[in-house]
Amino acid sequence: MTTWFISGTGTNVGKTHFAQTLVCSLKAVLPEVVGWKPIETGVVAGTIGPDEAALAGHSTRKAPPTMRLVMPVSPNVAARNESKNINVSALCTHLFECSKTSEVVVELAGGLYSHLADGVSNADWVRQFGSVLLSQRRAPAKLVLVAPNRLGVLHDVGACLRAAAYEHISVAGLVLTNALERETQRASDPSVETNFQSLLCEALLESVALCELPYGSVQDLSVHGAMATFLAELRRPNDAALDGD
Ligand SMILES: Nc1ncnc2c1ncn2[C@@H]1O[C@H](COP(=O)(O)OP(=O)(O)O)[C@@H](O)[C@H]1O
Ligand SMILES: [Mg+2]
Repeated sequence: MTTWFISGTGTNVGKTHFAQTLVCSLKAVLPEVVGWKPIETGVVAGTIGPDEAALAGHSTRKAPPTMRLVMPVSPNVAARNESKNINVSALCTHLFECSKTSEVVVELAGGLYSHLADGVSNADWVRQFGSVLLSQRRAPAKLVLVAPNRLGVLHDVGACLRAAAYEHISVAGLVLTNALERETQRASDPSVETNFQSLLCEALLESVALCELPYGSVQDLSVHGAMATFLAELRRPNDAALDGD
């Protein structure tokens, strides 16, 4: 069973969309797949947040609980506002237990340097969980970075890859996602035609699986095809994996 961490170059870049697409694609080849949003901020009090709902809707089993926080800010600030505590070790335990029986796709709240708990970034959590897996002689988790196909993405991807390398976190895959139909995008942003090719020249992506995800859902043939190729590359054993501490 592999654990997948889905991070991104920022927020509103397509992490949930890709995470749910990945859950659907994994379900085609594996019996138990869970999509988990450990902490969701900006959730209307008394409701289930959109990311949690989207991932739960595609999972074959119940995910560990999502901490729902009202303020649309980073998790640590939103938790403080409600006098709640984010316990990173407890997140590791929930994830480890779930990963014993299911493939788990975890959508991180933001990028690697987004603040998760006070003094703890997503990168810290990913590394901490890597240590748990290592200590239990389990296969390492895989981290996929999601980036939106738009002007500026080359810098954002380059910066994230360098941050990951600095944090000793291997990036297994990079998804360049198209949130609009190509014709619509091209009219206002010609870079959408060249960004993927430009990323192929990024030295840090040499051993990283790459995917340009077309606009649409996993039911669309083009998305299905792109995901099948991407998954085959990502699931190759001993490909880029998260280092344990
Ligand atoms: N490949 C895609 N096809 C269709 N819509 C997409 C695609 N990628 C991103 N989107 C849309 O872009 C918006 C932001 O994506 P989302 O997954 O919610 O971002 P994040 O989780 O990073 O905040 C959503 O409306 C989502 O449906
Ligand atoms: Mg999301």
